[in-house]
Amino acid sequence: MECDEIVRMRKRHNLEPRMEKCADLLIAEPSENRGRWRETLPGFETLSVELGCGKGRFTVGTAASLPQSLLLAIEKVPDAMVVAMERARDQGLANVRFLDIDAAKLAEVFAPGEIDRIYINFCDPWPKSRDAKLRLTAPGFLRLYADALRDGGEIHFKTDNTPLFDWSIGVFRDEGWTLSELTHDLHANGPVGVMTDYEAKFVAEGMKINRLVAAKAAGTRGTAAGPLPRLRGASLVDARGYAQSAADTAALSLKEATLPLCQAFYRHFEHAPELFEDKSTIPQYRYDPERVKTYFADRHKLSDRRYYYIMLGSEVIGELVFKKIDPENRSCELGICLVNDGYKNRGFGTAALRMALELGFGSFGMETILADSLLLNARSQHVLRKLGFRQTAEDERFRYYRITREEYLGSKGEKRE
Ligand SMILES: C[S@@+](CC[C@H](N)C(=O)[O-])C[C@H]1O[C@@H](n2cnc3c(N)ncnc32)[C@H](O)[C@@H]1O
Repeated sequence: MECDEIVRMRKRHNLEPRMEKCADLLIAEPSENRGRWRETLPGFETLSVELGCGKGRFTVGTAASLPQSLLLAIEKVPDAMVVAMERARDQGLANVRFLDIDAAKLAEVFAPGEIDRIYINFCDPWPKSRDAKLRLTAPGFLRLYADALRDGGEIHFKTDNTPLFDWSIGVFRDEGWTLSELTHDLHANGPVGVMTDYEAKFVAEGMKINRLVAAKAAGTRGTAAGPLPRLRGASLVDARGYAQSAADTAALSLKEATLPLCQAFYRHFEHAPELFEDKSTIPQYRYDPERVKTYFADRHKLSDRRYYYIMLGSEVIGELVFKKIDPENRSCELGICLVNDGYKNRGFGTAALRMALELGFGSFGMETILADSLLLNARSQHVLRKLGFRQTAEDERFRYYRITREEYLGSKGEKRE
């Protein structure tokens, strides 16, 4: 599968020695400071916490601009956090510390009312409905924050993901938070505030940024509020208003690959768990813009390939490649990968492949187009058959298919009758 080339994450080298060099900034046993943060790190007017600081552009920028506030940056991936720590050390910041924990552990680390402000920037969207509880703005998390924040304490939330943002607004309101400074285009009139690493990239690509401030009020629910609400309609794909209808596929188009489209694809890419027989072998994937950049440059050196992105309106929802293009025999192979499960089983893959066949047998002048499908991917095999591909072979992992121009034109003719 095409995407595999980029999804294998490199482990950062020398993590341990690098962490050791910044050891002064790491709070190794944060729960020992529970209820005593102001005592153990005295001299600051306020205490802020950043959840998922990543590589820390926002962390160091905010700490530098608010020296009177202590900023505790939480990050569960040390490979990212070490970069943030190095940045803080290099700037000689005295008001920032790092906690290598999961945000779900907040109550073990902070006593009720201990925090003044929480920053949540560009948290993972977890688009599938069944994963909604993992979003850092899900009710379970908001209740943890409500406990740890003082009355009137604030959450500052930024994201590029408008469906996540709109969904979160509903959750904040249902959970009794008071919202202000709500915008779907934070930088409409020029850059505002300290940007995060993700934000800086997105803004450079012309994307809009959402932001809101949620304040803890008298009616805000904490963990004592009882059972969590059931999360209905929590799929972010549905929240975007994309119905599962033929009208959807009318908004589809193929665009020749560019670096910003490639970045947009890999930013939202998620593995399809159903394609892995042994779920423990699903590779870890985290978006790394630099790695995508190299990958994009490398693959454009290959003259027998042409890459396209599958667009749903202005949204990149998949990648499509014509590979092994053989001008002499007028044959090529098609590969397709949808960005995540939110776009599967909705006719997008079929419609995109149909466009690819039009392009392949049309402007590219191909006579034969090949495709393959993992044995486990029954859905893709169904789509290939539906489009008129014939199975030609099978091995222990793949089924192989082909379609000729004649067969394709014939199948189109049959459909018209
Ligand atoms: C999409 S990145 C954004 C990083 C950074 N905030 C930015 O905007 O550049 C999300 C980060 O949150 C971290 N993260 C996600 N869930 C987390 C959790 N439950 N606890 C701590 N960190 C988490 C991830 O490891 C990742 O570094």
